[in-house]
Amino acid sequence: MKQNILIVGSGGREHALGWKLQKSPLVNKIFYAPGNGGTSENISINADEFEKLIEFSKNNNCFTIIGPENPLSKGIVNEFEKNGLKIFGPNKEATILESSKCWAKEFMKKYDIPTANFEIFDNAEDAKDYVKYKSAVVVKTDGLASGKGVIVCNSEEEALDAIEKIMVKKEFGDAGNKIVIEDLLVGEEASFIAITDGKTIIPLASSQDHKRVFDDDKGSNTGGMGAYSPAPIITDELHNEIMRDIMAKTVAGIRREKIVFKGFLYAGLMIVNNKPYVLEFNARMGDPECQPIVARMKSDLFPYLDACVNGNLEKMPMIEWDGRAAVCVVMASHGYPGNYEKGKVISGLEDVSKLNDAFVFHASTKKFNGNFITNGGRVLGVTALGNTIKDAINNVYDAVSKISWDDVHYRRDIGKKALKLTNSSTNHSI
Ligand code: AMP
Ligand code: GLY
Repeated sequence: MKQNILIVGSGGREHALGWKLQKSPLVNKIFYAPGNGGTSENISINADEFEKLIEFSKNNNCFTIIGPENPLSKGIVNEFEKNGLKIFGPNKEATILESSKCWAKEFMKKYDIPTANFEIFDNAEDAKDYVKYKSAVVVKTDGLASGKGVIVCNSEEEALDAIEKIMVKKEFGDAGNKIVIEDLLVGEEASFIAITDGKTIIPLASSQDHKRVFDDDKGSNTGGMGAYSPAPIITDELHNEIMRDIMAKTVAGIRREKIVFKGFLYAGLMIVNNKPYVLEFNARMGDPECQPIVARMKSDLFPYLDACVNGNLEKMPMIEWDGRAAVCVVMASHGYPGNYEKGKVISGLEDVSKLNDAFVFHASTKKFNGNFITNGGRVLGVTALGNTIKDAINNVYDAVSKISWDDVHYRRDIGKKALKLTNSSTNHSI
């Protein structure tokens, strides 16, 4: 019997996962809670309404997939499992890897996983003492702060200011009761995401996000303004090193802590002189990374998610990938991640739907009077494939140029970093 799916979340990540799963011969209907303008079977239940989600999933025999971190860290998986329902994602205990940076850093130290040197503080005076005479540190809130609780400081003054904001003015609330202060690493970032059932690890293709709002990595941090896959910095050799020294040690360590981790395990890495260091873990798929990754995935995704939930991922072969590159450009509202207007009519989507190998995944859109309108900060992700990263960049910007609305903002340099590192070919296995 074909499986019904319930995807919880409303971003480009959730639309892209649903688009990929819809191609599976094993999948029947896909429901999105609450979904967005681009997703079809939307049900009006929010990601934090666990009881309603459980009831819907029971009544419709769904296999549920959780996109965002908040419901995961509040224990949605534990609640579904108590009800005997199939759900893909880590339980509350396992999300500590993402929800407490202090816990994650101590964990990495204990299991010898490469990461920047650090100290943990629970009071501002000691933290201020520690940064005296230091020219560069990174100050991080312990708890989740929507990606804003990380402050890169290039002087003692900036570090003192960051400590003041987090610990004294409490700008991030209780998330800042404890902080990590770590060495600043200088290198190239990459995202390494795998599916794990707590024993077996199946890597996904590498990728690279662009967090800053403006070209050349200027301006504020955002949820992500674009991504590409593969990340050419991750050579086959480095891939093996990351699997051995980071992913395998993490999964084994988590098991030794008596925690069962099932789901997407995401390591945000800094590659310094060809050595990988963990900047952070996430207990979920990345967004926008998910978009170029699924665009390149040739294998059926559903059997991997199912095997993960059943705890028998070891029976699955490695995932097959399209050897081409994929680039995703996020089209956002002018003003994001600050204030912006909503309700602008989006044009040109039909033109892109006629292109081969270019896909639009919606994030904050809504249907209104027969049109799609903007409904938030990150509005759409446009993803295109190309034989090389350069071709994929050309293809994606060709598609992006067909879509418009009043005051649209997007970066013009997504993927440019990869060009520095590649001789315009993607000679990686994944
Ligand atoms: P995180 O949420 O820990 O991944 O941090 C967000 C961003 O801050 C990362 O994507 C990096 O760009 C930057 N960052 C975090 N930690 C460091 C570090 N130790 N050295 C340099 N940059 C960092
Ligand atoms: N793109 C970064 C994240 O999903 O956290």
